[in-house]
Amino acid sequence: MSETIAEIYAARVEAGALHPDPAQEAVLPMLEDIRHHLEATHLKRKGILGGLFHKPPEVPQGLYLWGGVGRGKSMLMDLFMAHLDIAEKRRVHFHAFMQEVHEGMHLARKSGAQDALAPVAAALTSSVRLLALDEMQITDITDAMIVGRLFEKLFEAGVVVITTSNRPPEGLYKDGLNRQLFLPFIEMIRERLVVHELVSPTDYRQNRLAGGQTYFTPLGPEARAGIEAIWTGFTDQGSPRGVTLTVKGRQVVLPAVCSGVARASFYDLCAKPLGPADYLAIASAVRMLILENIPTLGRGNFNEARRFVILIDALYEAHVRLVASAAAEPEYLYLEGEGSFEFERTASRLREMQSADWGG
Ligand SMILES: Nc1ncnc2c1ncn2[C@@H]1O[C@H](COP(=O)(O)OP(=O)(O)O)[C@@H](O)[C@H]1O
Ligand SMILES: [Mg+2]
Repeated sequence: MSETIAEIYAARVEAGALHPDPAQEAVLPMLEDIRHHLEATHLKRKGILGGLFHKPPEVPQGLYLWGGVGRGKSMLMDLFMAHLDIAEKRRVHFHAFMQEVHEGMHLARKSGAQDALAPVAAALTSSVRLLALDEMQITDITDAMIVGRLFEKLFEAGVVVITTSNRPPEGLYKDGLNRQLFLPFIEMIRERLVVHELVSPTDYRQNRLAGGQTYFTPLGPEARAGIEAIWTGFTDQGSPRGVTLTVKGRQVVLPAVCSGVARASFYDLCAKPLGPADYLAIASAVRMLILENIPTLGRGNFNEARRFVILIDALYEAHVRLVASAAAEPEYLYLEGEGSFEFERTASRLREMQSADWGG
């Protein structure tokens, strides 16, 4: 038999790659249980263990792992995914996932589908038995209004969902418009997923700070000089040019790109009406982004703040390096306003992205 997830975790601790963390260790048997079910029904389906009678395959409960930033939720999810021996599995960031869903629904509507969600759900359920969604957060009414029906279809088809979040299910879409329509989704999550809080005292992201300076604050001549010095390191290798990315027929302009490094201002990327697809396109087009003049944001700029969160998520997921100049330390950029709670995660990521070994 292959190693258990607990054994793999222990081996990583032994090797010094992980600190032993009892809160994380408590999650391992839950993951193992899901893995065991999925791999066993896999064998049954193949007929190796199965008999002649077709019982509907047993579907284990999924897992909703929530807790503070940097506690290791995503790390545990990745550990699980890497050792889950079935082909029909998929891990995707929640933003990117919802983006795909909207895209699919858009196409379905164009081709005249009655229920635009049906073909999207059908495509999903025919290709995955385990769906891992990192960082579930729902701040958008269009997402809030479809996740209920979408997940209902996934669960009906026996798809097992594991997800991470910074909030408990009851905290999702908090204070959102028409929230009562969203409540059945929370109930469904509670029913189909084991809800578990990862209460580790350690924020591992904080612990990994170091390296050459990549975050310059406050704004001013010193920050400018720091940014300039880094940029010169790249422009020495070739001259910068503007790059236009075409996303869904729209044009997204990166004003200056050189050797795979883009330089843009906060205003260029977050003050214009760009959306998740645009940020994913940017993140896949460059290996480093130099983002200048991030201001402090407040209630009046929640749109900018929201775009900034999505941009940072996209960069983070794609392992794009970030160099930035900002008016304040990450934790003080957006203290008040819609989504300022979610911003804590962004601040944590901005910290992690400063570490010398971060990125690819
Ligand atoms: N037990 C641990 N020992 C050492 N590093 C860890 C441990 N758990 C997590 N990390 C690291 O800390 C960082 C934050 O973990 P992550 O899983 O991204 O947190 P979360 O998803 O809860 O915000 C990652 O780089 C991860 O590899
Ligand atoms: Mg995470």
